[in-house]
Amino acid sequence: MGINILAMGSYVPEQKLLNDDFKKFIDTNDEWIRTRTGITERPMAGWEPAWYMGAEAAKKAIERAGIDPADIGLIIAATITSDFLTPSMACVIQREIGAVNAAAFDVNAACTGFIYALDTARRFMQTDDSMKYVLVVAAEALSRFLDFSDRTTSILFGDGAAAAIVEPSDKLYASHLASDGTGAHFLCARSLNVAPEVKTETEFDDGFPKKPLHKLAQDGKEVYKFATKALPRSFDIISEKTGITKDEIDWFIPHQANIRIIETAAKHFGVSMDKFIITLDHYGNTSSGSIPLALNEAIEKGIVKRGQKLALIGFGAGLTYGGIVLEY
Ligand SMILES: CC(C)(COP(=O)(O)OP(=O)(O)OC[C@H]1O[C@@H](n2cnc3c(N)ncnc32)[C@H](O)[C@@H]1OP(=O)(O)O)[C@@H](O)C(=O)NCCC(=O)NCCS
Repeated sequence: MGINILAMGSYVPEQKLLNDDFKKFIDTNDEWIRTRTGITERPMAGWEPAWYMGAEAAKKAIERAGIDPADIGLIIAATITSDFLTPSMACVIQREIGAVNAAAFDVNAACTGFIYALDTARRFMQTDDSMKYVLVVAAEALSRFLDFSDRTTSILFGDGAAAAIVEPSDKLYASHLASDGTGAHFLCARSLNVAPEVKTETEFDDGFPKKPLHKLAQDGKEVYKFATKALPRSFDIISEKTGITKDEIDWFIPHQANIRIIETAAKHFGVSMDKFIITLDHYGNTSSGSIPLALNEAIEKGIVKRGQKLALIGFGAGLTYGGIVLEY
């Protein structure tokens, strides 16, 4: 059983940060950021909570799908920047859109979040005939977790949300989800829920970077090494399992972290960069929002068309990675 993406929607904050704006806080410049990452600007949430962005994206997707929110059987929100420890972001979005008959929960798989959530949606639909529609939404306000004095990390991320209404179908679908927890400490942000020993950094060394609570820390080089291997790996595994080849894929929609990582994947596959949807130049890395924002934009621009085969491939903190091949 596959899925049909009935409709999508997005919400991107109006406020944005240009590369040159970072000069106010750190020693950097537009040229360094563009050549090392491909990013030129990124949206930054102002007053908007992450759930608000998710709910707005969901409302757009529901309107475009022309469905009654009461027919949504499940809401899965992919996020690492939820406004609440509890309730889940999915429950808050449910309140906003009136999906009164849905179950709701969040998925935390960092930048691979949308892939994990979409694949979970498909598995739910596969085992429950009564599930007519699932809302999969990814919403992130990463800017609130950034240390703006850290020039190697703060320049990479942006805020935004995208949502998809999916239904069961017999279209092509294959997936692979994976994780390598041995690299958990390479990309992380501590919650406020830590033992006092960790706060004082005296007696307890858990191997994770010592960064202020709630601030994102990473070993950029280790993440880069992991990403260049993980990005193509999921597609290769799907390809081995199903026989679907790279030449059959109309569009690769990768996690939008860094243009150099995507170029390495393109080289690995031996396919032109023209087959990769790129939005990181204007969105930056929006974590779980990155793949659905790219897909939504490509659909809105008429680049991705019905009947085309898509490969969604991602990686992120965890270190998670995964891919989905599907027909749009
Ligand atoms: C972060 C990243 C862009 C850094 O690029 P890099 O080529 O590895 O750069 P380096 O860390 O080797 O730094 C090179 C130099 O640039 C400097 N530098 C780092 N950030 C800078 C910035 N924003 N502006 C100017 N100079 C910067 C470094 O201090 C270093 O200077 P030095 O040689 O004097 O020590 C890169 O490692 C990366 O993209 N990693 C993956 C991160 C990621 O995508 N995370 C999210 C995954 S979901």
